[in-house]
Amino acid sequence: MLIDTHTHIDMENFKDRFDDVIKTAKEYGVEKVVIPGVEPAGFVRIAELCENYKNVFGAVGVHPEELNSYNDEAEEQIKQYLKHPKIVALGEVGLDYYWDKSQIERQKEIFERQILIAKEAGKPILVHDREAHQDSFEILKKTGAADVGVVMHCFSGSPEFAMECVKEGFYIALGGVVTFKNAKKVKEVAKVVPLEKLLLETDAPYMTPVPFRGKENQPAYVKFVAQEIADLRGISFEEVAGTTTANAEKLLKL
Ligand code: NI
Repeated sequence: MLIDTHTHIDMENFKDRFDDVIKTAKEYGVEKVVIPGVEPAGFVRIAELCENYKNVFGAVGVHPEELNSYNDEAEEQIKQYLKHPKIVALGEVGLDYYWDKSQIERQKEIFERQILIAKEAGKPILVHDREAHQDSFEILKKTGAADVGVVMHCFSGSPEFAMECVKEGFYIALGGVVTFKNAKKVKEVAKVVPLEKLLLETDAPYMTPVPFRGKENQPAYVKFVAQEIADLRGISFEEVAGTTTANAEKLLKL
């Protein structure tokens, strides 16, 4: 059994074939999925999907690219949704210096505020860190985010940074990039991080793994991520699947 811990199948392009996407996932052995939120307008749909599908779980949070949607009302909504039994985490939240460097202080501020909300709610945090490793790490450390659990989603740092994160108790989530031929750094990360700290994800519809690279991604394809990690580590697919599934179930209480 596999779990896709980060998939955006609440998006419009999956709307008319949501059942099929879930069915295909099951055929590939992917039994549970977590849909992270990016902005308040999307939270209702995520909660609905959680309520309508037994194996669908969700998260709520304001993504750094959506920081203009962050205000008191958004904060209140996040707090309310975090009480939902199937909203298992805060996310995705974090810092993105690739997308926009003009509002770094604002990004940091809302990242920190949301971490404190997660700590109050006692739910783990799904972190988006793009070209902002140092600042993300410092904020997570300063706020004691590891107390509730931290997932470094779509990890893109060096193996050394991965180990620093592990030392703090953070989980490292890997997706389709690990299957890309030129992704040397991520492949190295997949080898050195203790299996007990690894999670699998797709980030669908983005980051589609080989052999479907270039096409639309979906939760089923987390299978290719697991296989690649098994090959890189020289262990069985079952070991990767079993341990990462146990990790996700334990951290996110799925
Ligand atoms: Ni994402």
